Amino acid sequence: MRVLVMNGPNLNMLGIREKHLYGNQTYEDLTAYIRERATALGIDVEIFQSNHEGALVDRIQQAYGQADGIIINPAAYTHTSVAILDALKAVSLPAAEVHLTDISQREPFRQVSYAGMACQAHFIGMGFEGYGKALEWMAGQKT
Ligand code: DQA
Repeated sequence: MRVLVMNGPNLNMLGIREKHLYGNQTYEDLTAYIRERATALGIDVEIFQSNHEGALVDRIQQAYGQADGIIINPAAYTHTSVAILDALKAVSLPAAEVHLTDISQREPFRQVSYAGMACQAHFIGMGFEGYGKALEWMAGQKT
């Protein structure tokens, strides 16, 4: 099973950005965690991070016919990007939304998740573990 894990803007700044919210672990720590969990589940994982909306849209489109599912933390684009929502709908792959923090308990502008509308599973406010849970969910989607 091939799964694309996508991370949006500023997630490459983990370990530096707003540590009181996102903790001390770095983006490298996150990718190592994802690879370890994927390997344990027998998932062939590709991890992609971009600070650019169009690059995220392009990568979702490329996943069509190539990946069996998408796990996405669109970061700030969660709350603004109809383009990412439409791309996820266009490829129509099993999709899971992940957020490190509990966006439902944060500022009002974080209450809407456009990308989440195209996702069948949501792992929110669980830190790195949310990616692990999303990988487990994805493994269960295998037919
Ligand atoms: C985030 C939550 C978003 O609101 C924020 O813009 C992020 C990270 C999270 O993982 O908690 O950059 O997606």
